[in-house]
Amino acid sequence: MAEKLLEINHVSKEFRIGGMLSRKKILATDDVSLSIDAGKPVILSIVGESGCGKSTLCKMVLRLYTADKGKITLLGHDYADKKGYDPRQFKLDVQPIFQNPFETFSMRKTVDTYLYNTALRLGICKTRAEADKLIDETLHNVGMSLQVVAGKYMTQFSGGELQRISIARALLTRPKLIIADEPVAAIDASMKMNIVNLFKDLKEQYQVSFIYITHDLSTAYYVSDYIATLYRGGLIEYGPAKELMDEPAHPYTELLMNAVPRVGDKWKEGMAMPDMENKEFALTCCKFAPRCPYATDQCRQTRPGEVDLGNERMVRCFHPLVHRA
Ligand SMILES: Nc1ncnc2c1ncn2[C@@H]1O[C@H](COP(=O)(O)OP(=O)(O)OP(=O)(O)O)[C@@H](O)[C@H]1O
Ligand SMILES: [Mg+2]
Repeated sequence: MAEKLLEINHVSKEFRIGGMLSRKKILATDDVSLSIDAGKPVILSIVGESGCGKSTLCKMVLRLYTADKGKITLLGHDYADKKGYDPRQFKLDVQPIFQNPFETFSMRKTVDTYLYNTALRLGICKTRAEADKLIDETLHNVGMSLQVVAGKYMTQFSGGELQRISIARALLTRPKLIIADEPVAAIDASMKMNIVNLFKDLKEQYQVSFIYITHDLSTAYYVSDYIATLYRGGLIEYGPAKELMDEPAHPYTELLMNAVPRVGDKWKEGMAMPDMENKEFALTCCKFAPRCPYATDQCRQTRPGEVDLGNERMVRCFHPLVHRA
């Protein structure tokens, strides 16, 4: 079996919302298993409508949330093993890129402060001169330079430029995994592809894998090696990006594909999605059954298990649109 870079094993996370009287539970992550092999970097996109649990899953991978159930390991280090997995090593190995670059940087500090902090505080560089060299080199790889960035504040850059700087900052630690949660959602439409395409180049150059969270299936199509579809907290389909998008196996993925917007558009307008219904999170049958055109009594009564379709494809559906290879 191939060694795993990341292994998410039957992970669940529940939130309680509301006051004492109207308390509700939301299973934001519902028994999700996913993995990324070590040795061959990939871009794994996680797609699904708003509120399906994409960020919750990523926050657990970033160790910002703890899983209620299940296990997450990175290169065999168990997240639950607080002593065995050194926090400094974790910061070097896994780096985040956030949605809004204007919130990543403070108005009061020059942007390069963040780059130097990462390079010097995490002990990647011993001296300022070493840091200058590494930072400049890394900025060049995202189409910027230290000369352009040095001494400037956030307001002196565009969103696209700031996101490139965030990416450079993340790369300074030579991470094995970068988690990018909607990294282009706040960026000008014309720059989106540009930034996402960078991931493809950097994946090879730095041998780093990406988890790319997006609403924007059109960008996911071009850059992803694998796609995972989430629905109401559960992983309902997984597979190589091209095969999955050209021939979805789950009726929900099919619905998403039929509503693929142009680069930069969100699904909101294109797709007839009813409001988030909390009770769907709690269904113990197929959560998509209430709106699935193919649903049968079996779907309304029982939860479908994982169906291995071969060719690295998985679907949780009693009536997959694609059959086993
Ligand atoms: N800290 C929290 N406390 C309570 N509920 C939460 C919390 N974080 C997320 N949730 C709920 O969990 C569910 C999943 O949220 P999450 O943010 O993971 O979705 P998402 O797929 O990232 O959505 P979006 O595309 O809008 O970013 C939602 O119903 C959300 O309201
Ligand atoms: Mg989110």
